[in-house]
Amino acid sequence: MQIVRSSEDLAPGLAALKRSGTLALVPTMGALHAGHLALIEEARRRADKVAATIFVNPMQFGAGEDLDRYPRRETEDARMLEKAGCDLLWLPAVSEVYPEGFSTRVSVSGLSDRWEGEARPGHFDGVATVVARLLLSVGPDVAVFGEKDFQQLAVIRRMVRDLAMPVEVVGVATVREADGLALSSRNAYLSADERSRAVALPKALEAAREAIRGGTAVSAALRGAKQALVDAGFLRIDYVALIDAATLEPLDEPGGEMRLIAAAVIGTTRLIDNMAV
Ligand code: PAJ
Repeated sequence: MQIVRSSEDLAPGLAALKRSGTLALVPTMGALHAGHLALIEEARRRADKVAATIFVNPMQFGAGEDLDRYPRRETEDARMLEKAGCDLLWLPAVSEVYPEGFSTRVSVSGLSDRWEGEARPGHFDGVATVVARLLLSVGPDVAVFGEKDFQQLAVIRRMVRDLAMPVEVVGVATVREADGLALSSRNAYLSADERSRAVALPKALEAAREAIRGGTAVSAALRGAKQALVDAGFLRIDYVALIDAATLEPLDEPGGEMRLIAAAVIGTTRLIDNMAV
């Protein structure tokens, strides 16, 4: 696996890969886990060569968020990517991605407004801007993202469609621990006690899904899920909602393709999760 940092080294590395066929890109912020590796695997199925990026994007973190303490494990990440069959790793510096005077923002209105966008103002402008920036620099045929960040995937799909970017966006199902907790780089923040209580998040979504399937009113199912999170010691619940999977609008009644989504804080760690219904 070739490791490059500067744009000058990126160009010849990419040119070599593109000569041998199609290219898939997997953008990440590092501190890699089996969820990220599932994206690499899917990328390998979809294209001849695979590139990954590790870039902790300051633009998508709000004031007082975890930018400074976000886990950084470059050496181990590189080893994991190499083993997973990644061909090229780009680790750009902040000054490379956002040179002096960078003043462009990509903003996907509507889909970015609710849920994560409401809890984290400016977050999706930061995500859309950096993903546009990475896609333009790498020029892959395919870009692979996780359903773990369901709203992010919807925002990126819309951006790619609206700007007619010549890339196919592929979503990969969430990889979970044996007990159901979604893998996340932020799980590293959890104490042992918080970790054992965090499983209440997927359990609450599962219970709400079964309740809705069984005919329980949506409002009652969501109330039950919120109560389960409070009982497990989650300190703040940003949202638990049933949404339309395409528009991300909240649903009072089941119908069409649906998703249950939730975000809540345990200790000092904010966790998100979602499930198809
Ligand atoms: P990061 O949180 O590192 O996630 C990188 C990719 O891995 C995202 O597409 C995310 O949805 C996916 N992912 C994370 N946990 C997963 C899991 N348990 N199962 C499957 N996929 C999972 O998301 C970001 O970085 C950034 O916002 C980024 C898109 C790189 C832009 O900065």
